[in-house]
Amino acid sequence: MTSPFESQRTAWDALSTGWEKWDAVIMGQLAPVGAALVDSLDIAEDQQHLDVAAGTGEPGLTVARRAPKGHVVLTDLAPQMLDVAIRRARAQGITNVETRTCSADDLPFADATFDSVTVRFGYMFFPDLARATAEFVRVLRPGGRLASSVWVRPEANPWTTIAVQAIAKEAPQAPPDPDRPHMYRCAAPGCISALYTAAGLHDVVEWDVPVVLVTRSPAEYWAMISEHVSLAVAALQQLDEPARARVAESVIAEVAAYADGDEVGVPGMARCIVGTR
Ligand SMILES: C[S@@+](CC[C@H](N)C(=O)[O-])C[C@H]1O[C@@H](n2cnc3c(N)ncnc32)[C@H](O)[C@@H]1O
Repeated sequence: MTSPFESQRTAWDALSTGWEKWDAVIMGQLAPVGAALVDSLDIAEDQQHLDVAAGTGEPGLTVARRAPKGHVVLTDLAPQMLDVAIRRARAQGITNVETRTCSADDLPFADATFDSVTVRFGYMFFPDLARATAEFVRVLRPGGRLASSVWVRPEANPWTTIAVQAIAKEAPQAPPDPDRPHMYRCAAPGCISALYTAAGLHDVVEWDVPVVLVTRSPAEYWAMISEHVSLAVAALQQLDEPARARVAESVIAEVAAYADGDEVGVPGMARCIVGTR
């Protein structure tokens, strides 16, 4: 039987093509969250930084640019996501980074190695949230900071719910298991703060950050969502071609309400959480 760990790695490796194809749109949408996380860390020019579940490289690459005499390690479970990160780093001329493939709850680093750790939209996919948090705290030096982000409740994130609800009309989805990876698993207020506090972090603060997913048309919105959003891609795999076509038609019609001139801007809301070791 495939373990949750293996199925996550396989799923994210497969999603890496969509993430690379839609890089500009995804990075534009998530930029306010990355900026909020990085700004909360007081990055020094020689910062030693770890980005966990770095995927295609953010916010680790932003930290690397701000710390020209420092070093950034990008880690992820899925090597093909990190391959994209390496290509993005090269394209941006960033050389003070390295990548390591590993799971968040078993980090191959000595205690107190890093000045800061980021986890942008990774927490909800980890097998054991408390064990992963203990690992982040272990590798932080005393006084170092952990900054992460998760999605808040689905109703505040029409950028995914429009697609997910249309898919559910064709194939009703079982409620998510709270102990299994899922995009909204950490949406409850205080969920991540409680993990931080239990792991010994202090000065724990959380705040919400709005995002907007901007595409050039409803059809482009659907194309990118169906090629990179974990929740939508997994649900779509259960549908046959006619059902997929009905979903596409329904989503494109609904998202037209968000069109403004040459753009379609669909809103969402993330939560950032920072704490100090
Ligand atoms: C939504 S992406 C976020 C990527 C990037 N941080 C960003 O914000 O653009 C989630 C990432 O979590 C990674 N991931 C899932 N389970 C993981 C685990 N147990 N350990 C480390 N990374 C994991 C996936 O491979 C994927 O790259």
